[in-house]
Amino acid sequence: MPEADLYELAERYRPEFPIFRSAVYLNSCSLGALSQRSREALNRFADLWDRFGAAAWYDHWLEAAQVVRASFARLISADESETALAASISAALTSIVSAIDLEQRPRVVTTELDFPTVIYQFLARRRLGVEPVVLKSPDGVSVPVEAFAAAIDERTALVATSHVYYTTGAIQDVGAIARHARAMGALCLVDAYQSTGQLPVDARELQADFLLSGSLKWLLGGQGLAYIFVRRELCRRLEPTAVGWFGAEDQFAFDVGALRLRQDARRFELGTPAVPTLYTARAGLELVQEVGIERIRRRVASLADDLWRRARSAGLRIRGASEPAARSAIVMIENTEPEAAVRRLGEAGVIADYRPGAVRLSPHFYNTTEDNARAIEVLERRPGVGGSR
Ligand SMILES: Cc1ncc(COP(=O)(O)O)c(C=O)c1O
Repeated sequence: MPEADLYELAERYRPEFPIFRSAVYLNSCSLGALSQRSREALNRFADLWDRFGAAAWYDHWLEAAQVVRASFARLISADESETALAASISAALTSIVSAIDLEQRPRVVTTELDFPTVIYQFLARRRLGVEPVVLKSPDGVSVPVEAFAAAIDERTALVATSHVYYTTGAIQDVGAIARHARAMGALCLVDAYQSTGQLPVDARELQADFLLSGSLKWLLGGQGLAYIFVRRELCRRLEPTAVGWFGAEDQFAFDVGALRLRQDARRFELGTPAVPTLYTARAGLELVQEVGIERIRRRVASLADDLWRRARSAGLRIRGASEPAARSAIVMIENTEPEAAVRRLGEAGVIADYRPGAVRLSPHFYNTTEDNARAIEVLERRPGVGGSR
């Protein structure tokens, strides 16, 4: 698709996001913008609550959960039976890790660039004998596949790492990492929170045993839901010990005499999901799939390219992958006082974010190169603060 058509795509969908009437929004990797569709869906949820009270569970809300699981399954080319819902990535990890035997194989390999909640799962289990191996990044941007290969051994139960690093926006070759894990008899968990919705993600192509994501970032669904994928062959084999009634085979039998877990990925579900978010998340998933993930990737890749070019010509330095193919739409602009820089951006009407040592900009399909220009213009006005050339 030519560049002009991709630009029209942004123009077409931008009116659906009222935030752009008052701001330049460049922080989709923290929280995707609220669409009119999601707001209307939230109103529909409230109407049902108002009209039916708890009776809405049977006729509407349980089905809404199923629609969201199925929609996520479609997005990652998985089967519906391989997907489940959780309250957060942290909750999803808790139930998944509870099903993995960390006694026979106590090592878990992760990296210093992964999101803290992933690493904390294993640091917290150190007193139970778990041995987390947190790989260092030699360049502060990514971790070579060879480093994973060298760290995974016959005592390794799990490799848990990101598809896209929240720290640098670098895209990892998780397929290659997963192959090393499998060759050693270890499992691979992919934290795809920062890739789903901005890149095509195919759980099987990535060789993921588990893949986690959630509603609030690139999938435009707001806070309150995480998505779980568990490879079909593992669903029955793995028995979580962190469980809840939504994972029971016959949830509404209320049988406390025995626990029979479901045979599919939903055995990893815990308790009542955030029903309002089922509505906003469904609208977000549908919108992303309507725009088309391949088109989104092309659009955000060109916006990220544009940001790299503008930042460099303004004398700002970017912490990110040197090869363009490994770059995503999370662009980290080095800054010694990122909090102050984000405040200045805010005063100029640009909503961005920061992480240690960098201002983080993350354009989605609804952004334009004018948005990028506005942000860089504000950042370049204080050359002493921005990174050096
Ligand atoms: C890569 C990644 N994983 C996990 C999380 C957070 O997980 P949780 O749903 O537990 O808040 C984030 C950001 O909030 C993230 O960027």
